[in-house]
Amino acid sequence: MPSTTHLPILFLLLISATFTAAKRSFQPRALLLPVTKDPSSLQYLTQINQRTPLVPVKLTVDLGGQYLWVNCDQGYLSSSYRPVRCSTPLCTLSKSSACGDCFAAPKPGCNHNTCGLNPINTVGNRETPGEFAQDIISIQSTDGSNPGRVFIIPRLTFVCGSTWLLGGLASGVTGMAGLGRTDISLPSQFSSAFHFPRKFAICFSSSTTSTGVMFFGGNGTYVFQPYIDISKSLIYTPLIKNRRTTASPDYFIRVKSIKINGNNVPLNTSLLNFKKGRGGTKISTVNPYTVMETSIYNAITNAFIKELSNVPRVAAVSPFGVCFSSKSIGSTRVGPGVPQIDLVLQRESVYWRIFGANSMVSVSDSALCLGFVDGGVDMETSIVIGGYQLEDNLVEFDLAKSRLGFSSSLLFRQTTCGNFNFTANA
Ligand SMILES: *[C@@H]1O[C@H](CO)[C@@H](O)[C@H](O)[C@H]1NC(C)=O
Ligand SMILES: *[C@@H]1O[C@H](CO)[C@@H](O)[C@H](O)[C@H]1NC(C)=O
Ligand SMILES: *[C@@H]1O[C@H](CO)[C@@H](O)[C@H](O)[C@H]1NC(C)=O
Repeated sequence: MPSTTHLPILFLLLISATFTAAKRSFQPRALLLPVTKDPSSLQYLTQINQRTPLVPVKLTVDLGGQYLWVNCDQGYLSSSYRPVRCSTPLCTLSKSSACGDCFAAPKPGCNHNTCGLNPINTVGNRETPGEFAQDIISIQSTDGSNPGRVFIIPRLTFVCGSTWLLGGLASGVTGMAGLGRTDISLPSQFSSAFHFPRKFAICFSSSTTSTGVMFFGGNGTYVFQPYIDISKSLIYTPLIKNRRTTASPDYFIRVKSIKINGNNVPLNTSLLNFKKGRGGTKISTVNPYTVMETSIYNAITNAFIKELSNVPRVAAVSPFGVCFSSKSIGSTRVGPGVPQIDLVLQRESVYWRIFGANSMVSVSDSALCLGFVDGGVDMETSIVIGGYQLEDNLVEFDLAKSRLGFSSSLLFRQTTCGNFNFTANA
């Protein structure tokens, strides 16, 4: 009878349909991590829950970092820790070039025949050999407006650092959250764990008392109180690769020129292109302020002074070179009323506009300094866009589409990066 022969197939189809539906509803479409600003180090910090039993681990956010690394020397207790062995597919994926050995009693960070990598502390300029490993983490999902339920990643890979490697990091921090352009960075691992697009966004608060946010994956909806969806107003520019160093985990964009108050600033444009692997513009979260090669810095500061010639200057306060009397500067919705600085991108009509809130740093009751730092004549990357210039801006890194999306100042939209609603949906 035909009906009996077809029954098992139908049954199987039903089961697999149900299973797929169930699987889908138990998979997050996007994840969320909170970000706070440490007032003394000016580092941006996040926190993950890792190990068995789960403990909170405080980390400095490193946008161009290769991967997650945490200190395993002190206080790493976990029954779910497992080292990654040499010559395994995961070890190959990590581009490890060393097989590590440790002859002391086995513990996290010290095992025989393990895949070795060299974690880097990009703040303190330290590097040390470390064991490649895996452990469980738990992380909150999001629909783009609120946090959702918590999900588990049973084997998130990371590298063991040491107590020495923490030098220069904020107090209480025990590692760095690397978000860089590698196959084992946090965004790559989150995307592959839950099969969502290789895309993430950062939104750092300018306030040390409110919490900013990072989104991983998702359909591009980023909602801040009072119900403002930022996704609809992002501007895009290509993410480019430094051909000489294709392995660089940094995110580069092409700045073609810079305008202040709409006037083009004459720059040595060859510094804005890559030349033998040097030059260009990247984005960094470990530099508190934008750093520029000396000739660019001088051109920008001189042009800015000229545009603001009606405002008296005051003695400069390190690390800045140009400060003004704040009494003579009015305030606007987007911060101190000063000339706009435009980073002109792939076309004249596409620019990242920097308003007073992101260009002027208040160093005292009476002084506002231009928040750029002279990086010297020998910079590897000519312009490094730093944290202060990113605050209250949403910046999306879309690796699938190889493009960067940016919102410019959210203050214009009467919200801030500190306005994400961290109350979980019921
Ligand atoms: C994205 O997902 C959220 C939550 O499911 C939904 O409210 C929103 O409409 C979606 N947005 C787009 C652009 O699809
Ligand atoms: C511009 O920068 C390049 C690269 O550093 C340098 O070789 C050249 O001398 C500079 N040109 C001028 C006019 O300063
Ligand atoms: C924040 O989200 C929660 C949960 O969805 C909601 O009940 C609450 O009203 C929201 N808060 C504000 C200020 O809108």
